[in-house]
Amino acid sequence: MTEARSEVSLGMPQLPAPAYPAEVRARLEADAKEVIARYPGSRSALLPLLHLVQSEEGYVSRTGMAFCAEQLGLTTAEVTAVATFYTMYRRRPSGDYQVGVCTNTLCAVMGGDAIFDRLKEHLGVGNDETTEDGKVTLEHIECNAACDFAPVVMVNWEFFDNQTPESATRLVDDLIAGRTVEPTRGAPLCTYKETARILAGFPDERPGAVAASGGAGPASLIGLKLAKGEAGPQARVVGPRGEAPRDEPQKGAEHLSSHDAPQQTSASDPDNPAGPAAEEGE
Ligand code: FES
Repeated sequence: MTEARSEVSLGMPQLPAPAYPAEVRARLEADAKEVIARYPGSRSALLPLLHLVQSEEGYVSRTGMAFCAEQLGLTTAEVTAVATFYTMYRRRPSGDYQVGVCTNTLCAVMGGDAIFDRLKEHLGVGNDETTEDGKVTLEHIECNAACDFAPVVMVNWEFFDNQTPESATRLVDDLIAGRTVEPTRGAPLCTYKETARILAGFPDERPGAVAASGGAGPASLIGLKLAKGEAGPQARVVGPRGEAPRDEPQKGAEHLSSHDAPQQTSASDPDNPAGPAAEEGE
């Protein structure tokens, strides 16, 4: 793994941040001007500008923070306070692909912890560490509001749903080998720097990328379908109290991901069937 070194040493006097090369600075200044013009107050542009400098170096360096401060008339302390608060800003050089394994409660119990442990062993890195080849940074991530597809892995903030240790291992192997990897939903995958530029507010100009963004996935729509009297794919219908839950036919249950995301995770543990919790005394 690569040596992790924080760019900020709290309490230590620091030399001024090195400047960007002239060509880089000119390009970033033009981009920053465009971003700042979108807001009535320039300081509102700080979050997208941090993504912009992240798109240049793959992380928010001291040089990037000094650039943001200068463009927005802020102090570097103000910029640092924001950049260190949000976990989407990386503080050290990292891989082309940030592989985040959700280990919040639901994903953890559905297999997220097992996936993280397998990837740690397979890649030979720990949390927030990068493989020697600079391809993959592994990290724990918090809930990404995709609990209905647990356990979830995200690569550069694109979803890979219903993962297993095996499918996640294939996923990182393919990323490292440079093979095409398709997220379960959303736009096609791009590198971390390219993702950062899109998050800075510049359009994703890859052909078909916007159209591929799609809408809610089947697991998110099950409640709506049931309310309308339609059976959702993979719906586990919870019957009245005392009745066993039953699985609806798996309509439209084709694989959505290129990485063997089994869609039956929520119904795949016969020892723990879903159903209404029994109340005391029943
Ligand atoms: S707990 Fe993992 S997406 Fe919500």
